[in-house]
This record gives sequence, C-alpha cells and structure tokens, in this order.
Amino acid sequence: MFRYTCLNPISQKGLELFSDQYTEVKELAAADAVLVRSAKMTELEIPDSVLAIGRAGAGVNNIPVADCAEKGIVVFNTPGANANGVKELVLAGMLLASRDIVGGVEWIKDNQEDPNIGKLAEKQKKQFAGCEISGKKLGIIGLGAIGSMVANAADALGMEVYGYDPYLSIDAAWNLSRNVHHSKNVEEIYEQCDYITIHVPLLDSTKQMLNEEAISKMKEHVVILNFARDLLADEEAIVKALQSGKIKRYVTDFANPVVAGKKGVLVIPHLGASTAEAEENCAIMAVKELRDFLENGNIRNS
Ligand code: MLT
Repeated sequence: MFRYTCLNPISQKGLELFSDQYTEVKELAAADAVLVRSAKMTELEIPDSVLAIGRAGAGVNNIPVADCAEKGIVVFNTPGANANGVKELVLAGMLLASRDIVGGVEWIKDNQEDPNIGKLAEKQKKQFAGCEISGKKLGIIGLGAIGSMVANAADALGMEVYGYDPYLSIDAAWNLSRNVHHSKNVEEIYEQCDYITIHVPLLDSTKQMLNEEAISKMKEHVVILNFARDLLADEEAIVKALQSGKIKRYVTDFANPVVAGKKGVLVIPHLGASTAEAEENCAIMAVKELRDFLENGNIRNS
C-alpha cells in the first residue's frame, strides 16, 4: 500500500490512475509520494519518510531539489506535458503585443451603453491600429519542448525564426522546422529580432539574463515575451527600457508589482499551463512517473 498527498488541486484524470493500492492522505508526514503544482515546497520541512515528489509542470524551482537529493527523495517533473498550452499563450502574447485588442475591447466596454457605439467605434479605431507578426523576426532563447513548438508555429505564421540553444537535443533539432535559423550565440538574437521570447529553466547561469546589458544589444522597439520564469528578466531594467522606448512591449506570465500596471506591459496571471488539456497531461505523466518509481523502482524525467 502507498499513501500520497496533493499539495495543489491535481486533475482527476491523473488521480484516477492511482490503483486501489493507493490512498490519499492529508498530512505530508504520512505520505510516501507528493503531487504538487505551484505550492512553494521550498518553505516546507519535507520529512525523509517521503520517497518521491511529482511536480505537475516543467520547472522545479518551487521544490528544494538539493535538499531532496540529500534526503534521498526522488523529484519528477513533466517536461513537455504542458508545452502546447504554453506555446498557444505565447502566440496569443505576440498577437496581443502587436494588435491593440486589449485597448479596443476596453474601449467598447467603457462605451457599451452608447446607442451610437458602432459609428463611434469606426471613428475611434485608428487609435487601436497595430502591426502584423508575419514577416517579422522572432528570436527564441531555448529550444526545448516549448521553444521548439513556438518556433514551428511562428514559422507557420510567416515569421522569420531565429533560435538559440547551446544544449539543443538531437530529438528537438529533428522536430524543428528546417526554416529555423540556428543562432550560434544569443547576441545574434538580441541584434536581429523584433520579438524575443525566452524558454530556458531558471538556473544561476540564466537568472536575470535579460538585463540592462542584454537589452542594450537589442533592436529599438523590441517586444519581449517571458512565459518561462519571472527571474529570468531584470524587470526594473525592462521598465526603464519601456520608458525610454527601447522596448515596445513586455508580455509576461508573472504578476509582479515591478511590472503590473506599467505602460507597455501586459501581465497575464501565470496561465501558460492553465488549460484543461495541459493540466490533464501533467497530472497523468506525474502519476505514471510516481507509480513506476514506487512499484518498479524506475526513475524517469527526474
Ligand atoms: C511549469 O513549470 O510548467 C509551469 O509553471 C506550470 C504551472 O503553471 O503550474
């Protein structure tokens, strides 16, 4: 018999995969296995009695991985399981940064009681004019599961795609559209691209990589998208560059006071992986990994 606990709501489709050998418990101290989405386990005392943690998501920075390794607790994540959901939101972010859909919809809401709204809207629409993404250069930093999907989708939308990834796997390279230009260094992305999106894990080496120096190498009026981790960007430097006009828009999936409500910033409340499909895929993968480990001792994706 095994006992598991969920620190966040986890899709039923995944939980259904636990056989009758498994019982859900409320206490972390009573659990052999833990399922977690975004709860900060870094703030918890994790008992050594826990055997494994399954993170229903790609990043593991809410889990004290080094501490777990010392205690012999195996940590699994679910790389790729929510990649399509994130990819679709990145595309939406690029479109929102290019067409003033948000401004237009807000204007309609503010004027919805006006009986002449149709005529008024025709007069007003000039102020919401935007630009197209087709033909523009998109730079992708990190060509893992999400970055490579964004690359293929942007190529299909007519963008000129540049990708930089010093650790590009053979599988990921094989799945990439032949039209993606592989940049030898990140500077090429900074210097060439109209849109830059980052899809790398948060590590000491990537923390605040989108900083003042990086921004200074970018094109005027660049659009930056951050759907990976907020700490990959120095957001104070981003706000400064938005004020000077160097950056046209910053689209982020992380709500931080530094950027929330600032001119030129579009903040989304961490919705990249919040689709029914992504939540199901992550839960299913995490439960399968936990079961395979607990029942057969197999370690995958950790
Ligand atoms: C991830 O790391 O994959 C995301 O943060 C998932 C989530 O939104 O929980």
